[in-house]
Amino acid sequence: MKKVSVNKSLFIKNRSKIFNNLKSNSLAIVTSNDELTRSGDQHFPFRQNSDLFYLTGLEQEKCILTFCPNHPEKNLREILFTIKPNDQLETWTGHKYTKEEVQQISGIKTVKWIDDFDMTLRDLALSSEHIYINLNEYIKYESPVFYRDQRVVKNLKEQFPLHQYHRLAPIITHSRLIKEKEEIDLLDQACDITNAAFHRVLKFVKPGTKEYEVEAEMTHEFMTKGARGHAYQAIVGSGKNALVLHYIENSDECKDGDLLLMDFGAEYGNYAADCSRTIPINGKFSDRQKVCYEAVLKVQKAAIKMFVPGNTIDKVNKTVFKLMEKELIKLGLLTQEEVDKQNPDQPLYTKYLMHGITHFIGLDVHDVGNKYEPFKKGMVLTCEPGLYIKEEGIGIRIENDIMVDDNPLDLMRNIPQEVEEIEKLMSK
Ligand code: GLY
Ligand code: MN
Ligand code: MN
Repeated sequence: MKKVSVNKSLFIKNRSKIFNNLKSNSLAIVTSNDELTRSGDQHFPFRQNSDLFYLTGLEQEKCILTFCPNHPEKNLREILFTIKPNDQLETWTGHKYTKEEVQQISGIKTVKWIDDFDMTLRDLALSSEHIYINLNEYIKYESPVFYRDQRVVKNLKEQFPLHQYHRLAPIITHSRLIKEKEEIDLLDQACDITNAAFHRVLKFVKPGTKEYEVEAEMTHEFMTKGARGHAYQAIVGSGKNALVLHYIENSDECKDGDLLLMDFGAEYGNYAADCSRTIPINGKFSDRQKVCYEAVLKVQKAAIKMFVPGNTIDKVNKTVFKLMEKELIKLGLLTQEEVDKQNPDQPLYTKYLMHGITHFIGLDVHDVGNKYEPFKKGMVLTCEPGLYIKEEGIGIRIENDIMVDDNPLDLMRNIPQEVEEIEKLMSK
């Protein structure tokens, strides 16, 4: 896997946005993700906690970042704790950061070994009134076990019950929502690599191709182009499998006459692309597939214009659902009379479109931010209308990543999506 180097100036800038928004006399703690055991002495692949990466650029487990902006000793105001390298670790898992490397990657001057954390923490906590802890506040997030920050909060509250505790997540979320130029460049690269994978797939797919072979083609293109791999489990669903929104088995054969829905994206420098494309397996859309596809594409083009400052996910959803309802009538799936009489709490379009149209994207594919957050320039979201007709075995989703601006910028504008373009590329 290629190591993508990001200039430390980004992490220094990101930290200053947090540091400057803490109350005076406070301590804030951000930790890396746990390494999780798969079985025996095997671990699941380690992925850095997105907030810790955002603030440091460090990819290693067992790191802790502390801010203590008013500490009397200047060199204790920002500290990074990390594992002390040793021969044993070096032999089994390879190189671990030296203090100098941590400084070079993150721009943090004070680096201590993790073994010194408990003692230093007492000093930091006793110099502070307020303690900020960084719990995961993504609305759908659930963890079956106590994750690291939950353990941190428990331990701290036992040791320092009289401090005032605060949520760090809203401050980091606020900052992560608006992407710096360097972050847009990384997202752009993730989208370009995703585009290369799509071109590869267009040349590859034909009746008889297996869904997992398509996934393998994507993986090959992602990794050789410098991505870590997939930003999330790719969905490669042919025929009726396209109707399963989170179909990740990718085990079936692509059949002549069916559509293939692919929801896939590269992760580059820890930034995710999230793309969906739907193609005819035999290289030519049938008349019915084509009108359905064109309906989704038309809605998507109208929806992209809504990614302007002041809008929200909630408003985009509501407007796009209405647009889709009109298309469903034109496609003969609903009638105007039925729509006029529908129960507003159970609108009829939900039979054919059962997911939201957009979510924030960045270091996480479903990035921080909620549906009421007003859009601002520099935020990036997906735009992903879909149409799922069970009776006809048709599942279509078209998904692009859009940067909010007065003229929204489609980061996936180069990834083919017009019917003629797809058919032409598949005929080569
Ligand atoms: N790839 C997951 C999604 O589109 O939300
Ligand atoms: Mn998405
Ligand atoms: Mn997607």
